[in-house]
Amino acid sequence: MSPSSPPASPPDVGVLVPAAGRGERAGEGAPKQFRAIAGVPMLLRSIRPFAQHPRVRTIVIALPADAAADPPAWLAPVLGERLRVVAGGATRAASVRAALAALEPACQIVLVHDAARPFVSPAEIDGVIAAAERGAGALAAIPVSDTLKRSADGRLVAQTAPREGLWRALTPQGFPRALLERAYRAAGDALDATDDAGIVEALGAPVVLVPGRTTNIKVTTPEDFAMAEALARA
Ligand code: CTP
Ligand code: MG
Repeated sequence: MSPSSPPASPPDVGVLVPAAGRGERAGEGAPKQFRAIAGVPMLLRSIRPFAQHPRVRTIVIALPADAAADPPAWLAPVLGERLRVVAGGATRAASVRAALAALEPACQIVLVHDAARPFVSPAEIDGVIAAAERGAGALAAIPVSDTLKRSADGRLVAQTAPREGLWRALTPQGFPRALLERAYRAAGDALDATDDAGIVEALGAPVVLVPGRTTNIKVTTPEDFAMAEALARA
């Protein structure tokens, strides 16, 4: 092998996909992660870039308990050696914890990616893996670009808040496995965190920002579904 083509790194990355939520803000119908965006279920869109990534060894999806016992038919063709399903918990953190517990020991780098983000890019995945391999926690993130207002009652503006230094946290987020496990152990059970980087930050461990893409949206509301349809067809 020539010096310009170093041996490929082994597939040692584990990906945890919390997909056990009820999607209450998305309105009527099936839980949002099972709904189609331009014909393809959102969960399938969210896991595909990882399933196709050469560094990814295993993907563990946390599903609602009933779906974990009887996974959707469209998941069957991708369920195999690289994809596992577990029952999630009552909170996102409980779902991540359940998926982490089911991850095979060979995965020493762990990524977490929300089932509600169907447009993650390979560059974001690469950036987060690279930072986690250097020993830090890492997350895809975007600098806040809007002017921020604070309001006590949701009607009257109390203050314009400075946006300097503020970033929006996306997923994927990535960690050396031992760091993520230590953070979840230290956090105990009463965990309502909405992201994993926050749990690691609470340990005092370094977490770095990786440039994210504005197309890596989180589908939360019915309006977001309309945006997602447009992005999928673009
Ligand atoms: N999630 C999970 N287990 C839970 C709650 C959330 O695995 N008990 C997952 C969701 O399925 C989603 C991700 O965490 O992929 C981010 O959560 P969010 O966007 O808030 O989804 P939901 O909790 O399903 O939506 P809502 O808060 O509107 O009910
Ligand atoms: Mg939620």
